[in-house]
Amino acid sequence: MSQNKIVIAIDGYSSSGKSTMARDLARRIGYAYIDSGAMYRAVTLYAIRNGLVNADGKLNNDALIAALPDIRIDFHIDPESKKSHTFLNGEDVEKEIRGMEVSALVSPVAVIPEVRRQLVKLQQQYGIEKGIVMDGRDIGTTVFPDAEMKVFVNASPEVRARRRLLELQQKGQNVSYEEIHENIMERDRIDTTRKESPLRKAPDAIMLDNDNMTIPEQMDFLLNLFREKTSC
Ligand code: DC
Repeated sequence: MSQNKIVIAIDGYSSSGKSTMARDLARRIGYAYIDSGAMYRAVTLYAIRNGLVNADGKLNNDALIAALPDIRIDFHIDPESKKSHTFLNGEDVEKEIRGMEVSALVSPVAVIPEVRRQLVKLQQQYGIEKGIVMDGRDIGTTVFPDAEMKVFVNASPEVRARRRLLELQQKGQNVSYEEIHENIMERDRIDTTRKESPLRKAPDAIMLDNDNMTIPEQMDFLLNLFREKTSC
C-alpha cells in the first residue's frame, strides 16, 4: 500500500449512515475524521441560543451573517469515549447539536451562502495535509473537488428514518417515527434544491446504496476502494 495520504470525501443524504462509516473508516486507516454537518449544526445552535430564530421558527439571516466572526468551531477528542466532539466557542456541544431542535433548523442555516463560504474555508484547511476522511453534502463537489476517493451514500427515506429513530431512542430522546421521517424528507428537499452547493453526486464518486448492507459489508466496500486508490 502506498504511503501517500489521500483525501476521502463521503457525501450523501441525511441519516444515510455516512458519518458512522466515515468515522469507522478513518479509525481503520489511521486518518483524521471531520464531520462537516456538525459545523452547520453548531452554527444553528449558536443562532438558537442567541435569539436569532423567532417564535415561529424563522431565522434572522442578516443577524446570523453579522455574527459569523463570533462563531468559532473546532473538534477535540473526548477522553472518555475517544470520539471527536464538536466545540462551539470552547464549549462541548456534541450532544446538543444532535437534538431535533437543531435538526429542524439546520437546513435553512446551510443554504446561507455566507455561512457556507466560512465553513468550506475551514473544512479545506483541515484537508491541507491530506490523510482525512470528511463527510457531508458537498465534500466531493465543492470542498475537495480533487479528492482522490469519493463515495456517495444513499438509502431510502424509510430505512434512514428507522435508523435515526433507533439512534435517538438509544440517546433517550422522545421522538416519533413520523416526526423523523418528515424531517428527513424536508431536509432532502432543501439539501437537493438549494442554489448554493446542492447535494448531488460528483461525476467521479462511487455510489454506495446501503439499504440492504450491514456495517461490516460497507466497511469492506470502503476498504477495498481505499486499497484500490492508494496502491500505485
Ligand atoms: O450530516 P448532517 O445531517 O449532520 O448535516 C446537517 C445539515 O447540514 C444537513 O441538513 C445539510 C447540512 N450540510 C450541508 O449543507 N453541507 C455539508 N457539507 C454538511 C451538512
